[in-house]
Amino acid sequence: MTERSGKTVQLSDPASGRSAALPLRTGTIGPAGLDIATLPKELGVFTYDPGFGATAACESRITYIDGEAGVLLYRGYPIEQLAERSDFMEVAYLLLIGELPTAKQLTEFTANIRYHTMINEWLKRFFEGFHHNAHPMAMVSGVVASMSAFYHDTMDIHNPRHREIFAHRIIAKIPTIAAAAHKHSLGQPVIYPRNDLSYTANMLHMLFAVPCEPYEVDPVAAAALDLLFVLHADHEQNASTSTVRLAGSTGANPYAAISAGVSALWGPAHGGANEAVLAMLEQIGTADNIPKFLAMAKDKSSHFRLMGFGHRVYKNFDPRAQIIRAMCHKVLARLGRSDNPLFELALRLEEIALQDEYFIERKLYPNVDFYSGVIYSAIGIPRSMFTVMFAIARTVGWVAHWQEMISDPAMRIGRPRQLYTGPTRRDYLEVKQRR
Ligand code: ACO
Repeated sequence: MTERSGKTVQLSDPASGRSAALPLRTGTIGPAGLDIATLPKELGVFTYDPGFGATAACESRITYIDGEAGVLLYRGYPIEQLAERSDFMEVAYLLLIGELPTAKQLTEFTANIRYHTMINEWLKRFFEGFHHNAHPMAMVSGVVASMSAFYHDTMDIHNPRHREIFAHRIIAKIPTIAAAAHKHSLGQPVIYPRNDLSYTANMLHMLFAVPCEPYEVDPVAAAALDLLFVLHADHEQNASTSTVRLAGSTGANPYAAISAGVSALWGPAHGGANEAVLAMLEQIGTADNIPKFLAMAKDKSSHFRLMGFGHRVYKNFDPRAQIIRAMCHKVLARLGRSDNPLFELALRLEEIALQDEYFIERKLYPNVDFYSGVIYSAIGIPRSMFTVMFAIARTVGWVAHWQEMISDPAMRIGRPRQLYTGPTRRDYLEVKQRR
């Protein structure tokens, strides 16, 4: 039985005759959360919530999402305003520090990131151990974890200055590591960063330049990449961010925690969806095949899902998808690829799916990754690198959440409960007695 009065919810269990007064915790916006921490002690039960659809694991001041209304705020600022008026370095500062920087703070922050763009030459050698067709996510995850073997001097997680240096290092170096993974796949030499370029222009330079020819970064491509990075920078307690928090809650070094985040992002239900969308569009091929693939997506006996559709939180629209959709048109037109057949196919698929009863009933709309792959491929980024690009942008969010958690005096190791459904107690049998 439950009864709500003021700021508590009274829960009583007639079977045991026990009751508990559970406090309602309120944030600055959004629904209140019922604090159930005392439930096992007071009522002798715990809560069951696979997938954590109804469970907050922490308080956070970084990002707010209202899935029904399609709202996404970074530190209170709407994503639409940041996408139009800000850029990735400024958004990174905002997410990490909590406020928009002054001109001087932004210059200092950007200079700090630029200072750390090179990677240790010995770290570069790690790539030689990977087979040429290794997935870049495997290489990035492994090499990021290995960074902990290089920076012992600044890995005291309780030292705020060490945490700051870590933040600058990982944000600065992950594009260099990602580009090195790409160059390894191609069998080309690793290209050193250029600190006179912006974050995303340098990323494109490291991906596409070769030592024997001059390379000029396309400003349209750099601007498009910057926008994608802004949109992907954080998304509150998603699977990879929760993974970073959980790994970090053990006191593990931050490179290990970020590497865990990279691995969690890889799955097709999360960051791997952008790669999967392009694979799906290529598989569909032409618009007349769409009905066949829609039928497959609706068929519960098939594992096929419409990649880039649906979201755990957004149930009306993904505000990032709307921004990207508009950007997609602009980028393709400006790069002279407005007749991109995959984009045409994506628009047709979106149109047909959005009129389909199955997708309407389940509130399945295109998410951010439905369009991002089309932009990445227009820029010339290979499909296997799409999720890596997402990881570079999301590193900022991971670091912001890790910092927030570590600096919280109430931090505890994350340790979910379980509902045990295995055998009850039984006695060991000697091997000859077993059948
Ligand atoms: N295609 C077909 N059916 C779908 C899809 C889809 N893409 N997504 C959800 N459904 C159906 C489910 O089968 C289920 O149907 P049912 O009620 O008849 O059983 C219903 O919609 C609800 O789906 P759930 O899996 O319960 O939703 P959940 O919130 O757990 O999953 C997720 C969200 C993982 C994003 C899911 O929609 C999905 O797999 N989408 C495709 C992958 C994708 O695009 N991922 C990117 C997410 S965004 C990001 O990480 C940046």
